This record gives sequence, C-alpha cells and structure tokens, in this order.
Amino acid sequence: MSITIKDAQGIEGMRVAGRLASEVLDFLGPHIKPGVTTNTIDKLAFEYMTEVQRTIPAPLNYAPSGYKPYPKSICTSINHQVCHGIPNDKALKKGDIVNVDITVIKDGWHGDTSRMFSVGESSIAARRLCALTYDAMWHGIKMVKPGSRLGDIGWAIQQFAESQGFSVVREFCGHGIGRAFHEEPQVLHYGKPGTLDELQPGMTFTIEPMINAGKRDIKEMGDGWTIVTKDHSLSAQWEHTVLVTPTGYEVLTLSAGSPPIPAFVEQPQAETV
Ligand code: MF3
Ligand code: CO
Ligand code: CO
Repeated sequence: MSITIKDAQGIEGMRVAGRLASEVLDFLGPHIKPGVTTNTIDKLAFEYMTEVQRTIPAPLNYAPSGYKPYPKSICTSINHQVCHGIPNDKALKKGDIVNVDITVIKDGWHGDTSRMFSVGESSIAARRLCALTYDAMWHGIKMVKPGSRLGDIGWAIQQFAESQGFSVVREFCGHGIGRAFHEEPQVLHYGKPGTLDELQPGMTFTIEPMINAGKRDIKEMGDGWTIVTKDHSLSAQWEHTVLVTPTGYEVLTLSAGSPPIPAFVEQPQAETV
C-alpha cells in the first residue's frame, strides 16, 4: 500500500463525504448538554446518518487488526479521555468537555472530523485547552501545500502546543483517508521540519492532534478502545480532513456549523480544482 492520489471524481466524492461528516456535528451540537447520555448522542447520530443522510457510520463494527469490533457509530471522549471513548449510559455533566468524532461513508468515500464541545459552561482551563487545541490543528493545516513535508505539519503543531505549556500525544496520529478509513500516510502531530513524505496534489488526509493539559503519556482502558491520560489531566482533540491542492489545501470537513477559522490563518482557502 502507498499513498493514494485522488482524481477529480475522487475529490468530488471526498468533498461530499467531508461535508456530510461535519453536518453530523452541526446536528448533534444542540443535543450536547447536561443530563444527556453519550448513548443518546450515538443513537441520534446513527439515525441522522442512516435515515437523513443515507451515509454509513464508519466506526460501527470497525475492527483494525489487534482490536475487537468497535461497538458504536461515533466516538465520545470526555475530559481526561484522549480518544476512542465508547458511548455509554452515563449522563454528561455541566463542565465536562467532550470530543465527538464522526466518520461517515458516502458512495464509498470517507469523511472524518471531530470537534470539542463544552457541556453547559466548562472551566477557564478546559476552555483554554479546547481553544488552543483548535488553533494547534490549524497551525498544522496551514502548512499543507505541495512541496511541504509531513514533518512540517507535525512540527507546527508541536511547537505551538508546547509553547502553550501543553503536551502532544504521540501514539495516535492523523492518516490518509479515501475509499479506506485509515490509509497511508501517518500524519504525526510532532516532528521536525523538512522530514518525511512530500505532499502532492490529490492527497487527502486528516490532521487530528490530541493535546494534553498535563503529561503526554496515555494508557488504554480495559474496554480495548478508550484511551485516557496517565496523569488524568484533561485532553482535547479536533480533526479535519484536508485535500492537498495545486496551490495549498482545501479543508473538506467544513459546514455551516464549523467554528470560524482562526485569524492567524491569513491565506484564504485554496481555489477548488
Ligand atoms: N475517527 C477516528 C479517527 O479519527 C477513528 C475511530 S476508530 C473507531 O481516526 F473504531 F474507534 F471508531
Ligand atoms: Co481520523
Ligand atoms: Co476521527
């Protein structure tokens, strides 16, 4: 397997899947409030995807080698949970921060995106972590253009996150995406400028930094999926799927409810091809 380059038809398929994934988050946002269980959010997402969008929830029964099949349609990772939290019957409480990660399949193409939500109002520290993790993702995205290297993306994210006193999770990374959920390359959220693969127009991959308020170390829970911080510090994550264009990038997972693009991203979105 190597990095796949999407042709015009593949790019169009990825645009549709990306927008639909983001629209699931738009739909779920108003439901994320104190007292609601993550199972309820999962059920709402499943119904919206399968009945309204006619998309397939990619996580459901997803079973990479070494893992048991993932039992739900979405991932919900709360507070010190880093990623791959499994929805359950516990209610969200005021002050929780929760990552909701959505991957849809439409006409065979995958769109993968996640956002952080505050349940009611969360602490200043929690809000700061969520906001700066969003900025960290965008520091990575703005490096994307032909001729840049994957190491440039990781470096930009790591520099920014560590400059804010946070740490970058090493064990999970962004990934190529297309007809498969997880394709080559791995997109590390740390690294050195000028290293690793050179970006080429037509590549599609995710950028999805997991940033911890405390130490970077993580551990897996007994359910075989949920990842938490070892020191129980808060963790945040945002994810977009991006396309490398001839002049830069196009973020594929945008929709009406996407948060505004940070002011430091001066470049307008690259012209669509
Ligand atoms: N959506 C996650 C990612 O960004 C992967 C979740 S795998 C699952 O790559 F099985 F937990 F859903
Ligand atoms: Co992903
Ligand atoms: Co994801």
